[in-house]
Amino acid sequence: MSSHDKLIIFDTTLRDGEQSPGASMTRDEKVRIAKALERMRVDVIEAGFPIASPGDFEAVQAVARAVSNSTVCGLARALDRDIDRAGEALKPAASARIHTFIATSPIHMKMKLRMEPEQVIEQAVRAVKRARQYTDNVEFSPEDAGRSETDFLCRVLEAVITAGANTVNIPDTVGYSMPHQFGELIRTLIERVPNSDQAVFSVHCHNDLGLAVGNSLSAVLNGARQVECTINGLGERAGNAALEEVVMSVQTRQDIFTCKTGLDTSQIMTCSRLVSGITGFAVQPNKAIVGANAFAHESGIHQDGVLKSRETYEIMRAQDVGWAANRIVLGKHSGRNAFRTRLKDLGTEFESEEELNNAFSRFKDLADKKHEIFDEDLQALVTESGLESGNEWLKLVFLKVCSETGETPRADVTLWLDGEEKQASCSGSGPVDATFKAIEAMVNSGTKLELYSVSNITSGTDAQGEVTVRLKLDGRIVNGQGADTDIVIASAKAYVNAVNKIIQPQSRAHPQMGDV
Ligand code: KIV
Ligand code: ZN
Repeated sequence: MSSHDKLIIFDTTLRDGEQSPGASMTRDEKVRIAKALERMRVDVIEAGFPIASPGDFEAVQAVARAVSNSTVCGLARALDRDIDRAGEALKPAASARIHTFIATSPIHMKMKLRMEPEQVIEQAVRAVKRARQYTDNVEFSPEDAGRSETDFLCRVLEAVITAGANTVNIPDTVGYSMPHQFGELIRTLIERVPNSDQAVFSVHCHNDLGLAVGNSLSAVLNGARQVECTINGLGERAGNAALEEVVMSVQTRQDIFTCKTGLDTSQIMTCSRLVSGITGFAVQPNKAIVGANAFAHESGIHQDGVLKSRETYEIMRAQDVGWAANRIVLGKHSGRNAFRTRLKDLGTEFESEEELNNAFSRFKDLADKKHEIFDEDLQALVTESGLESGNEWLKLVFLKVCSETGETPRADVTLWLDGEEKQASCSGSGPVDATFKAIEAMVNSGTKLELYSVSNITSGTDAQGEVTVRLKLDGRIVNGQGADTDIVIASAKAYVNAVNKIIQPQSRAHPQMGDV
């Protein structure tokens, strides 16, 4: 092992992350996240599970088209039809990987697959060989490896490496392992699999016991050279290992780790905010690296120490992960060029002058209401502009709410609905409730409100509120976003955005709704 091995970062926010209940993303949202990940120099982006639905297929295809500097990966069960679908979706990719998996633990083989161990090996080998017909970059995962028998795992891995897998990924699918044990498993597999030198050993840890990052790092210390992770630790159930924690641990503790990632860590905050804005999954303030308090020093003793010497209480520099030192970026007098340049720095480029003009005019409106515009405001603004194609079925035209002590709140709403203006007035338990009722009175979407959440984009009473509205209809889930200095208007925008998404063909069944 050289003193600076490369640690490959495989991001699965768009696949495993999207399997979080409610975290569905549209094709265009996936492309935006993928481009931000590419900008951060993530090595491999797992874009989805192409067989899951036509929408998933299109999303993987769109990411494959949009990304050129990262490898784009598609997931497939060890079945011919899954692999063919993944191979097809990945055709436009500059660098494509197929990731195929089959369960190897006694409980999964017996209860879920109803297959004998020998059949599992045979199917795994067949899948890898078939995937190699599409790309020479093939990853194999023995699902539930954390609870599989080590002898059997060794046999499976040897067989799939011989069949052509160049990455073998060891998932702790149910988050059951302990760090010392998981590290030991990786070391044993590398030592005992006869052809282990012909593949990169990877890990994919779930966070059911809060150990996903610990287990991943223990695996790296024992020879793993790829970590699968997600932005903000998003993922199935309690989530996956958080990319930002894995990457910053390895970077901060170079006295311990003998490998390095190739990531531009200054992009971490941009990715974190983007993912949280799109999915509506707020980041808790005390979350490591990306939480609002991660670099805030509250106690007098700490503040005094940090002022005298930053290293007294800080092990990393906030700007190394993208917390900008000077956060006020633009204001009322900033021009189009400054606006375009700052957004380019944040990873957003406009595809047409019209798109730029639309976003810039929103920026001017915002700057009139709010004099200091921060990066976070710009990102919310772009999210909103990106959500509007100009051909929306539904648009918010006017909103007036009346709310006073002792009176029932009322909302008057005017919408542009399918080519004509409509108006409704409703009362509710609060101004937001009244507004949503008035919108529903006109659109009759039949959707169920699954989540309503408000967060402030920056601090201060003039800050924009960012609202997420999650709607469900016939098994489909969408997240709508809206931002405004007035949170009732932000809420109305988010509701309207969610309704537009749920009626668009682009909205996809949530991956959990399928039988895959
Ligand atoms: O958790 C898991 O086992 C997975 C596999 C598909 C790698 O997500
Ligand atoms: Zn997983």
